[in-house]
Amino acid sequence: MGGACVLDADVERILLTEGDIDKIITRIAAQIDRDYCAPDKKLVLLCILKGSVVFMGELMKKLTIPVEIDFMRVSSYGHGTVSSGNVNIILDIMRSDLKECDILIIEDIIDSGKTLSYLSRYLKLKGAKSVRTCTLLDKPSRREVDFTADYLGTVVPDEFLVGYGLDYSEKYRALPYIGVLKPEVYR
Ligand code: IMP
Ligand code: MG
Repeated sequence: MGGACVLDADVERILLTEGDIDKIITRIAAQIDRDYCAPDKKLVLLCILKGSVVFMGELMKKLTIPVEIDFMRVSSYGHGTVSSGNVNIILDIMRSDLKECDILIIEDIIDSGKTLSYLSRYLKLKGAKSVRTCTLLDKPSRREVDFTADYLGTVVPDEFLVGYGLDYSEKYRALPYIGVLKPEVYR
């Protein structure tokens, strides 16, 4: 153990512990349970790969209502810490029943707001019955387009975060907490 194998060494401080995140997700799951508990609803959690995979996995386990899952992959970041601003769909949702689906987009973090505002519009145009958004983290200070999620875990400061699915250059996703990455790692 030690040296380059220990990812924790690149983390300046822990912002949210596993316990903190668990409490947040329990609260959001109860809200979703309440809002989507109706016989005419067909709730589909749409995981935005790859960053939302841990959040979505924990969230779906806490729901008690019927739920289906699906996946899309988009890219707006290159290999740095600044968004390119363009949203590219790399893997699209493919369902013949989209018109019956109440889509809840599951995102790890909102930064500029471009990803979720684009995806919400895209899925409505594609014909989804309803589209809402759920994000674990939100950096409102970085917003470039006006966007508010329907379900929000917690607001975070303008620092580069890793862990719990969030990456820097594909690393750190498996950390069980959310931490602030040491700036010297990406400078
Ligand atoms: P937006 O389109 O600018 O809102 O960007 C949202 C996407 O940027 C998220 O899905 C993340 O993949 C990525 N992102 C934004 N902030 C961070 C961060 O602090 N750490 C890791 N990824 C981030
Ligand atoms: Mg991402």
